[in-house]
Amino acid sequence: MMKTEAYSSLSAATRAVLEQYVEEEFGQVPFVQEREWARPDWVLLAYEGDAIATFCHVVLREVSIDGQTYKVAGINNVITPKAYRGKGYASQVLRQAAPFIFSQLGCAYGLLLCADALLPFYSRLGWYSLSNCTLYYHQPTGEQLYDSNTMLLLPPGQQPIRPQHIHLNGLPW
Ligand SMILES: CC(C)(COP(=O)(O)OP(=O)(O)OC[C@H]1O[C@@H](n2cnc3c(N)ncnc32)[C@H](O)[C@@H]1OP(=O)(O)O)[C@@H](O)C(=O)NCCC(=O)NCCS
Repeated sequence: MMKTEAYSSLSAATRAVLEQYVEEEFGQVPFVQEREWARPDWVLLAYEGDAIATFCHVVLREVSIDGQTYKVAGINNVITPKAYRGKGYASQVLRQAAPFIFSQLGCAYGLLLCADALLPFYSRLGWYSLSNCTLYYHQPTGEQLYDSNTMLLLPPGQQPIRPQHIHLNGLPW
């Protein structure tokens, strides 16, 4: 079963479970520890019985892309707890994310930041990576340049864009 929930309407118990998974997966990663991150607006979940089999966060943001502002859905914290991995749950949640962000939220693009290892996984799900594109985001200390992969998801039928400058206009995700 799949569910889409506003992050603010999650029960305290569910939020605690999600925060625990995020901490387990990314709590020890220096890049993550050393930065401040955006709060999610939405969470997409897949369940196996009553248990959370995968979830991902969605951050809504007005992002600058080559000087124009677009409503963007930022995807992050795609996590499948270990017992549920390799069964297609994350792929299922990410496929479900597309109609949600484009039809329901009315976003122009999906945008995620990821390490090299995950490029093939997201590519299989229709995301494409930008080359020669600088991406900046806010931190309490000032602007920071992101130096790994930026991937975009387009609404069905739209031709790929190849921007050179992106500013997230806020904390990263
Ligand atoms: C990445 C992750 C979400 C995949 O979840 P999943 O439900 O097992 O995904 P699916 O079953 O839909 O697809 C599995 C595929 O993901 C890819 N994959 C999973 N982990 C990967 C990794 N560390 N590096 C590269 N590819 C990976 C593989 O292609 C895998 O296919 P395989 O099972 O044939 O090897 C899960 O492994 C996870 O939670 N990892 C830790 C958190 C993380 O890195 N999240 C993504 C970055 S935000």
